[in-house]
Amino acid sequence: MGLGFQEASGLARKFLRELEAPFVGRHEEALVVVLSILSGEHAVLIGEPGTAKSALIRRAADLISARFFKYLLTKYTEPSEVFGPLDIRALKEGRYVRLTRGKLPEAEIAFLDEVFNANSAMLNSLLSIMQERILYDGYTEIRVPLWSLMGASNRIPEEPELEALYDRFLYRVLVKPVDQDNWDRLLEAAWRIERGEIPRPEPIMTLDEVKEMYKMAMSVDVMTVKPQLIKLLVTLEEKGLHVTDRRKGKILKAIAAHAFLHGRREAEETDLMVLKYTVPKDPEDFEKISVILTEELKTRERIIRELMEIRRNIENAREAVNKLQHYDPRLTDYFRNLKMVKNRVTTLVKDVEDPEVVGLAEEIIEMVDLLIEEIMAKLNV
Ligand SMILES: Nc1ncnc2c1ncn2[C@@H]1O[C@H](COP(=O)(O)OP(=O)(O)OP(=O)(O)O)[C@@H](O)[C@H]1O
Ligand SMILES: [Mg+2]
Repeated sequence: MGLGFQEASGLARKFLRELEAPFVGRHEEALVVVLSILSGEHAVLIGEPGTAKSALIRRAADLISARFFKYLLTKYTEPSEVFGPLDIRALKEGRYVRLTRGKLPEAEIAFLDEVFNANSAMLNSLLSIMQERILYDGYTEIRVPLWSLMGASNRIPEEPELEALYDRFLYRVLVKPVDQDNWDRLLEAAWRIERGEIPRPEPIMTLDEVKEMYKMAMSVDVMTVKPQLIKLLVTLEEKGLHVTDRRKGKILKAIAAHAFLHGRREAEETDLMVLKYTVPKDPEDFEKISVILTEELKTRERIIRELMEIRRNIENAREAVNKLQHYDPRLTDYFRNLKMVKNRVTTLVKDVEDPEVVGLAEEIIEMVDLLIEEIMAKLNV
C-alpha cells in the first residue's frame, strides 16, 4: 500500500514482464490482459485452439492475489454452475437464496473459457454482472466485487444475441499462431512448459494495489491527445470502422492505462496504439486498424523503421554518386533528393525526445551533409 506513481507503474511493467515470460510471441496478448486489469475492464482473447490463451489468463490470475473464479462454458452450462446453486432448504421456506461461495458472484478476477458458449439462461445475469457489477437474482440484487473478467474463445460471435456480451469486452485481441520464424523458440518454450519447468508463479501484487494503480492511471491527463484522437476516430469512421459512443469514452481509459504503464502522467500520441485493441469488432477490422494506426501514428517503431530505410537509401546513393563522373547531370538530381531527405528526417523527429531516435536522425543528417559536399565537389560549385 501507499505506492508512488513511478513505483506503481514499475510494478505494472513487472506484471507484464512476468506474465509474458514463459510464452513466445504473446506480448500483445499479455499487454491487453495487463491493460484490462489496470483499467478495471474486461478483455477477450480470440484465436484458434492451443495458442496459449488459457495459459496466459491463468498466469495473470496467479500473479495477482485476488479471489479468482474460472469456468469453461458449454452450451449446456447451468446458471447454478457459474452463479452458485439455489439453497433448497431456504427455498422450501419460501426464501430465494443463492449459495455464491467460490462462484462468479464472489470473484474479483474471473476467467470464462469459451465465453461465447454462454446460453440464454445465463446471458442476462452475465451482462449485468459485467456492466453494473450487480447480479439481479430473483427478488434481490447482489453487488459483486468483480474487477476484470477475461474471456477466451475460438471465434468472434456472429449471433445477434451475443452482441451485447461481445460489446462488454472493451479489449479484444486476435491471437495468431506463432509465425514460422519463431518455431524454434516456441518449441523450446513449450518444452519447458510441458516438462513442468515453469512453476506456478507467486502473486506479485494484491487487488488493493491494482486498485491503487487504477486510481493513478485514471489521473493521467488524457486530454493532451484529444485532438489526435478525434482526428484518428474521424479517419477510422471514413474507412468504415465505427466506434460506438460508449466505446469512445472507454477508449480514454485504455489510453490512460497505457500511459500509466509507461510511467507517464500525460498521455502522448503513442498511447493511441490502444485503439488497436479497443476498436475492432468484425474479423476484418483487426488487420484494417493495425494498418491505419501504423500509417497515422508517429510511433517510435515506425520512425525508426523509416529512418533505417532512409539510411539504406543514402548508402546506395553514396555508392552511385561515387561512380558518377564530374558534372554528370544526375548529380543534381541526387542533390535535390538529398535536400528533401534532410527535410523529411527533420520533420520525422521534430517532437521526438527519445535519445536513440534522435541519435539515429543526427547520424543520418551527417551522412546526408557529407554526401551533399561530395556532390558539390563533383559539380565544382
Ligand atoms: N506462444 C506460446 N508460447 C509457449 N507455449 C505455448 C504457446 N502457445 C501454446 N503453447 C503451449 O501450448 C499449451 C496450450 O495452450 P492453451 O491450453 O493455453 O491454449 P488455448 O489457446 O487456451 O487453447 P483452447 O482454445 O483449445 O482452449 C500451453 O500451455 C503451452 O504449453
Ligand atoms: Mg483454452
